[in-house]
Amino acid sequence: MKFRSIKGTKDILPDESGTWQAVERTIRDVMHVFNYKEIRTPVFEETALFARGIGELTDIVGKEMYTFDDRGGTSLTLKPEMTASVIRAYIQHQLGEQQPLTKVYYIAPMFRQERPQAGRLRQFHQFGAEAIGGQQPAIDAEIVALCVEVYRQLEIDNVELRINSVGCETCRPVYKEKLKKFLRPRLDDLSEESKRRFDQNPLRILDSKDEDDRALTKGAPLLIDHLCEICGAHFNGVMRALKSLGIAFEIDGRIVRGLDYYTKTAFELIGKELGSQDALVGGGRYDLLVKELGGKQTPAVGFAAGIERLLMVLGKQKKRVGAVVRPTVFIVAADNSSRDHALREAAVLRRAGVSCEIDLLERSLKSQMREADRQRAENVIVLGEREIQSNEVAVKNMQTGEERRIALSQLIDFFTKPR
Ligand code: HAM
Repeated sequence: MKFRSIKGTKDILPDESGTWQAVERTIRDVMHVFNYKEIRTPVFEETALFARGIGELTDIVGKEMYTFDDRGGTSLTLKPEMTASVIRAYIQHQLGEQQPLTKVYYIAPMFRQERPQAGRLRQFHQFGAEAIGGQQPAIDAEIVALCVEVYRQLEIDNVELRINSVGCETCRPVYKEKLKKFLRPRLDDLSEESKRRFDQNPLRILDSKDEDDRALTKGAPLLIDHLCEICGAHFNGVMRALKSLGIAFEIDGRIVRGLDYYTKTAFELIGKELGSQDALVGGGRYDLLVKELGGKQTPAVGFAAGIERLLMVLGKQKKRVGAVVRPTVFIVAADNSSRDHALREAAVLRRAGVSCEIDLLERSLKSQMREADRQRAENVIVLGEREIQSNEVAVKNMQTGEERRIALSQLIDFFTKPR
């Protein structure tokens, strides 16, 4: 029996993890610069948290969650997204009491049982941020600026920021009726999926990927043109703040988002080379979620981004991030009697923070040399009787071929002090 990874999940192999680490480092640096602190929440939560937070009628809750009963009969779900989980922690630990605006970020695996395809996995990774505790447009703009900055730092271009407003409890119901009035005569021709959405969530019909649906909804009224005064002013404020930050955006009245908690601002960052799964980032404001999940009325805004999709774009744009991880020095034991010495020298160098490799497979001198080459070690030292007697080794720089004779007692300095 041969085991394989579960469909829609991926191993991140040793050759790839350097890139992941470099991307994660960039994310952490940007988060630090914007003064967001990391939050880590458990991989699973009570199912009801997501059902309540994301919305019973969404695709995620309706058909994509990994839900199971534990041995005590509690229904648990592997996190399909972070926002509900972060808000649960925010309420539970009264983070709002410590500071009026709580700014947190995360990098974590998420789980959704979707049909796997390029850019769509069942376990994927998100980075994201949430700013909880304020309704000012400048906070929306900061969240947008923060995510855009990560892509800028990674030199990813060919992306487009699209923003919209999905209104609030006042303007959305009124608009919904207008939209239904427009859709009703076209209902029979809409896709099955859109027909199903007509009663419960007609707004989502606007972001249907079905070509016919798109044609049929051309000219449909858009919520952005029917916002109440408060939402309209807020949207103008967000646009003004983005302009003053020099962030380019498109207004896209069809952005609806697949999670129910959004109010006012909704936005996406699109990777133009990504095909059908083109959303790199999704985010927006969710002023009612904290209350919905049992906390005080607290406005909030955030975003999340798929790391695999970010890496796909990096790959398509042929951008390399992260240096190839290789040892600074490979100590080759010239014969069996020198192996213990090699081991000790390696231990000394490693303690001093020098990345050092030795042969643990007791291979011949020749195959140790080949291995040092294969690992692209920066330097090679051959350690034998003669070197041990003289307390001096030849350090060969593998790139230049240059050899330097160095006393064993000077090796740490040689590798750690700038030359
Ligand atoms: P979302 O749009 O569901 O929003 O996901 C955000 C991003 O996660 C997507 O744009 C995409 O890059 C990535 N993603 C989603 N599903 C998959 C998948 N199956 N495979 C690979 N990547 C995927 C949220 O999750 C919200 N919590 C965002 C948010 C935070 N809103 C406010 N705060």
